[in-house]
Amino acid sequence: MTAIRLVTLDDVPVLADLFTRNRDFLAPWEPERGTDYFSIDGQRGVIEEALERHEQGLTYPHVILDDAGDIVGRINLGNVVHGPFQSCGVGYWVAERSNGRGVATAAVREIKQVAFDELGLHRIEACTLAHNVRSQRVLEKNGFVRFGLAPAYAKLAGQWQDHTLYQTLNPEHG
Ligand SMILES: CC(C)(COP(=O)(O)OP(=O)(O)OC[C@H]1O[C@@H](n2cnc3c(N)ncnc32)[C@H](O)[C@@H]1OP(=O)(O)O)[C@@H](O)C(=O)NCCC(=O)NCCS
Repeated sequence: MTAIRLVTLDDVPVLADLFTRNRDFLAPWEPERGTDYFSIDGQRGVIEEALERHEQGLTYPHVILDDAGDIVGRINLGNVVHGPFQSCGVGYWVAERSNGRGVATAAVREIKQVAFDELGLHRIEACTLAHNVRSQRVLEKNGFVRFGLAPAYAKLAGQWQDHTLYQTLNPEHG
């Protein structure tokens, strides 16, 4: 069964290895990254920063675990804002060799519980590249609704690219 849990600094070597092995697979869907990003030191910096932001309540950085308890991806809640908006964003990836088994779908289902049941937020937003049909399917299977197209929204794989915007609302809020 797929599970998620908060990332720790102990996960850094595994994440550096997983990122390195999936560098080409992830490249079309991510910002351009230097070689340092994939090293243990690079990943330690990424995770330290994420945990600092977590301490401030701004982000909830998780790893995704497979049936055997091995890390097979990452999923984050970020951009957490309170006040009248009560919203956050979600981002995720699953290692290529673990694709096609419902792992991302299960991880998004679990992070929704964190956002809605644990944090009491009202809304989760997700932005996918306009042609990222796999990710769109994952979101739609989790009740996310497409609400817009944002032209040249973010620079991924070195290009300013159009994104499709999705959201899902907390069912407890009517
Ligand atoms: C997108 C991603 C997270 C999906 O992970 P996954 O664990 O394989 O996803 P799941 O198995 O839960 O679901 C994938 C769905 O897409 C469908 N799918 C796969 N390829 C497809 C295609 N070419 N066209 C349409 N649907 C497709 C699968 O059939 C499945 O839907 P189903 O359960 O109805 O059959 C993974 O491919 C990934 O990490 N990609 C690179 C990074 C990325 O895109 N992150 C998301 C950024 S918004």
